[in-house]
Amino acid sequence: GKGLAVLTSGGDSQGMNAAVRAVVRMGIYLGCKVYFIREGYQGMVDGGDNIQDANWASVSSIIHRGGTVIGSARCADFRKREGRLKAAYNLVNRGITNLVVIGGDGSLTGANLFRLEWSSLLDELAQNGKITPEQKQKYGVLHIAGMVGSIDNDFCGTDMTIGTDSALHRIIEAIDAIVSTAYSHQRTFIMEVMGRHCGYLALVAGLCSEADYIFIPESPPKADWPQSYLAVVTALTSEADYVFIPEDPVPNDWQISLCEKLAQERSAGQRLNIIIVAEGAIDRDGKPITAEDVKKVVVEKLQQDTRITVLGHVQRGGNPSAFDRVLGCRMGAEAVLALMEATPDSVPCVVSLDGNQAIRVPLMECVERTKAVAQAMAEKNWELAVKLRGTS
Ligand code: F6P
Repeated sequence: GKGLAVLTSGGDSQGMNAAVRAVVRMGIYLGCKVYFIREGYQGMVDGGDNIQDANWASVSSIIHRGGTVIGSARCADFRKREGRLKAAYNLVNRGITNLVVIGGDGSLTGANLFRLEWSSLLDELAQNGKITPEQKQKYGVLHIAGMVGSIDNDFCGTDMTIGTDSALHRIIEAIDAIVSTAYSHQRTFIMEVMGRHCGYLALVAGLCSEADYIFIPESPPKADWPQSYLAVVTALTSEADYVFIPEDPVPNDWQISLCEKLAQERSAGQRLNIIIVAEGAIDRDGKPITAEDVKKVVVEKLQQDTRITVLGHVQRGGNPSAFDRVLGCRMGAEAVLALMEATPDSVPCVVSLDGNQAIRVPLMECVERTKAVAQAMAEKNWELAVKLRGTS
């Protein structure tokens, strides 16, 4: 059968194991010889025991586990041609020409480069006598398929990345827990959530928890509402009376609107306030807004008893939700089907969720669009950033 390997790369996320399991079992079902590559690209470069035979039973009892049982790493060696040459040798040596990569945009970009370089890497290996001309001929094309595993939901091309839903469950559980203690002491809590440069976790956690104020990297807007679809959805789902829409970025005197909002809530009889700060939140000048910055304002201007809770890696841990398990299963199976149908000319794909459909989208198109979001944000073009972010 065809040689097929699966690896997880970059930050782990809940649901990766479901995806690995589906790749292994779908691969076996379709007659492939399936391998795990442990510790991400590092394991592919190092070879040896890092590349192991996978069988049906070796992926039993992992669907409910968070993280990735085959390990993950951010790998500097694979960024160099020398590292990729070693990796190519390790794959050819085992007859592996189909690779499933589960990771973020950096990992998928790396996979694409590896594929593009593949024949020149094989030329070099053959010239050095590391592989035979027959091996070079037989394993001349590398097929790759990607899946996006990340809690951040920061990848253009899929509605949901694997892990986002579980991270949201973790966040809202934490906020619910905080609310009861905040209520008792009439406190204000500032919750810092993950998401790197993407405000999705903060925004959706805000919708689900009746937060009073949300700071996101895409720059939260002013208080006029409802002006957008997002504002309407927010109003319907959270009974919020204050909504931030991305089309109209927050002014740099956000301190004033924040304090007005918090004071208004308290005078209406609320015993607590919740503010969510995405870890990458910024103002319209691109200057970071941290949980400490927000606390300082609330304490100095309103004298509210205020605490900060940084959720950190708790968000990335724990069991995957039902949604992420199903998502991982569907994506994994589809990735293997895509590889089995690939021809030497086909464009590598990312398996994505579009509505309720598992679809294949060109990998590099998605990577380029994801980079365009970062570029728009760097140029402070919030409107474009939000538009691109919203295009799945
Ligand atoms: O990309 C996932 C993520 O958890 C981000 O939300 C966060 O910024 C980053 O990874 C943290 O990285 P590390 O686990 O290396 O500290």
